[in-house]
Amino acid sequence: MTIEALRELQATDEGPSLPDGTSVASLVGPNGSSVSARALTDPDIYRMELERIFARSWLAVAHESEIPNSGDYVLRSMGEDRVIVSRDAAGGIHILLNSCRHRGMPVCRADAGNASQFKCPYHGFTYQSSGEFVGAPVLKKAYGDTLDRSTMGLVSARSETYGGMIFGSFDPAAPALRDYLGDMAWYLDLLLARTPGGLEVIGSPHRFRIRANWKLGSDNFIGDAYHTYTTHGFAVNTSQLPPDPSFAWYGVQVAAGEGHGLGLTGAPPGVPLPPYLNMPHELIPLMKATLSAEQDEALRRTNFIHGTVFPNLSFLNAMINSEEGQAPLPFVTLRTWIPRGPTEMEVCSWFLVDKEAPQWFKEVSRLSYVRLFGPSGTFEQDDTEIWTGITKAVSSQVGSRQTLHVGMSVDREPDRGDWPGPGDVHQGGYAEIGQRSFWRKWAKELTR
Ligand code: FES
Ligand SMILES: [Fe+2]
Repeated sequence: MTIEALRELQATDEGPSLPDGTSVASLVGPNGSSVSARALTDPDIYRMELERIFARSWLAVAHESEIPNSGDYVLRSMGEDRVIVSRDAAGGIHILLNSCRHRGMPVCRADAGNASQFKCPYHGFTYQSSGEFVGAPVLKKAYGDTLDRSTMGLVSARSETYGGMIFGSFDPAAPALRDYLGDMAWYLDLLLARTPGGLEVIGSPHRFRIRANWKLGSDNFIGDAYHTYTTHGFAVNTSQLPPDPSFAWYGVQVAAGEGHGLGLTGAPPGVPLPPYLNMPHELIPLMKATLSAEQDEALRRTNFIHGTVFPNLSFLNAMINSEEGQAPLPFVTLRTWIPRGPTEMEVCSWFLVDKEAPQWFKEVSRLSYVRLFGPSGTFEQDDTEIWTGITKAVSSQVGSRQTLHVGMSVDREPDRGDWPGPGDVHQGGYAEIGQRSFWRKWAKELTR
């Protein structure tokens, strides 16, 4: 479906439809409690997502610590668009479409580096790290005075940061990032802004491809505490997780508005787990001084945090035992589920740690991340096997006609109990309010 065709469809009263007449709004059931399996494989839906979600939303691309110095850059993706995230001579951050304004060639072909300028390898048009057009070979001879330099800079996205994470949006009408995050900002602070120095990325992010639809990552991380019982059941038997197969029940699920959501798991009754995810004791006073009293209380009770910022940034701060006989130590990973076609995604997975953490902790925490949620990590492989299986099973003729169930906890009213954080809260981890909120937002963006 062309973009023009989409715009025409948008003009009708019933909202857009797919080529076979199915209205896009009908893909998601009442209150988000079901979703058509087509959402995971259909090429027309995928094209709409690129135009209406990825070209409009705030998308996470990098962390400030990856480009600390002037001239530093990393190559990343916003939807299918490749962008350069760069720091200019004055320290400002820019997100630039990696495509020359002359004939479209990528002007940067290294994954990361330091450069004051980007020179296109085709004819040599050259740009500042801020994206501004600098010049071209034999400019006067070739163009005389006909080239308007002011219009020849690289296409750039809006750029804002939260908790050190750099987000970009190609939509000039998008709200400010802080408004876009809404209540989710309160929870992001528990990971990204809990210590005065914040977090830093160690190494380059892992990147790998999965033959699965990108939304399966978002849907899982936003609120699927339920799957740990089965998918990662081995980890209870091997003492990597608390000795209660339904340990993930003991916590809250939160719909934080606008398709964002998360779950926070605490200790099962009678199982003494260390507070603050067993973070190094040196960090505890720093966290108490940095977070609000309510945020501090939420973090104190928690052993496992997982969530998704709509559309495709997920995060995990987990206390899982990755080495026999050792106490479980926490790690933080943020990852984006980058669309690479309706049935394939690329994962960009960062390992982060508090800058003020002791060196020994940074090392063991990174090892724990790699063993559990790196590309070959045990938990990561469990999940990717499942998401690949789903994508294959719902790509077929009959498989794609199914309606998938997202109705867990529709019979329960939100109940915040004494939970100190914002949002719609469900007591008990087996609740799909986060997923329903995600799918409602997804349908809203495709049809607005
Ligand atoms: S395409 Fe870049 S200089 Fe020609
Ligand atoms: Fe999982």
